[in-house]
Amino acid sequence: MAGMEKDLAGKIAVVTGGSRGIGRAIAERLLRDGAQVAICSRSAAAVRQAVRELAEATGGIVDGHVADVSDLEQVRAFFRFVDQRFGGLDILVNNAGIGIFAPVADLTAEQWRRTIETNLTGVYYCCHEALPRFRNRGGGFIINISSLAAKNAFAGGAAYNASKFGLNGFTEALMLDHRYENVRVCSVMPGSVATEFSARAPDSSWKIAPEDVADVVSFVLRMPARTLVSRVEIRPSRPAR
Ligand SMILES: NC(=O)c1ccc[n+]([C@@H]2O[C@H](COP(=O)([O-])OP(=O)(O)OC[C@H]3O[C@@H](n4cnc5c(N)ncnc54)[C@H](OP(=O)(O)O)[C@@H]3O)[C@@H](O)[C@H]2O)c1
Repeated sequence: MAGMEKDLAGKIAVVTGGSRGIGRAIAERLLRDGAQVAICSRSAAAVRQAVRELAEATGGIVDGHVADVSDLEQVRAFFRFVDQRFGGLDILVNNAGIGIFAPVADLTAEQWRRTIETNLTGVYYCCHEALPRFRNRGGGFIINISSLAAKNAFAGGAAYNASKFGLNGFTEALMLDHRYENVRVCSVMPGSVATEFSARAPDSSWKIAPEDVADVVSFVLRMPARTLVSRVEIRPSRPAR
């Protein structure tokens, strides 16, 4: 398409929660697009295995580090690792997220805190680390993997809905804060995606594939610099009734 970047050669990308599911598919897609990619997750073994498999599948330059995005010190250590290993940062995909589903009366304070600290505060931590690094490169791109649950509340979703509604507000303000520094920011909002995320609907045949979300991320990232796709909603064409 006219004006679109053909690929992401020369770009360095971080994908949080890149060991499985949507994050893993995004990491693979960015590697196929020519970017160098760093992933993190809470499990060192899962990171190691994903890095090995991604490298074998794509032949690309990929590495990873254990980091819980809800822990500021671990996030700082992860970004220092990226500095040392890759020497810069152009793209941040905030994908790591959890879903704990319970009515408010049954939701524990620990479950509430874990959801908000992962899905919302963790995104702030990563953006706060990425933005000064973008300045050194003259700009950058942040993609926040939100959800249709950021606009549609559902029973049992209080913690998850609050984290994702909050994430959309954060993402819009972030975009307005940094757009004149050549930082583009986009919220990608999928409906149900076929991953291990939710055991609530185990039949996955009707769901969005993680690779479809990755295709959208790749498209958004390759838009010409003059144009920002700031929000994308993605839904299954024929959801289970
Ligand atoms: N699946 C859906 O239907 C759906 C729909 C809309 C939006 N989303 C969003 O898409 C994102 C990815 O979901 P998914 O379906 O791919 O989930 P998933 O299959 O459970 O994968 C989640 C990934 O995030 C990592 N992760 C979880 N908590 C983390 C933390 N505190 N720090 C670092 N990494 C962490 C996991 O690794 P470890 O467990 O090893 O940490 C894993 O790599 C989430 O933000 C989710 O809210 C999902």
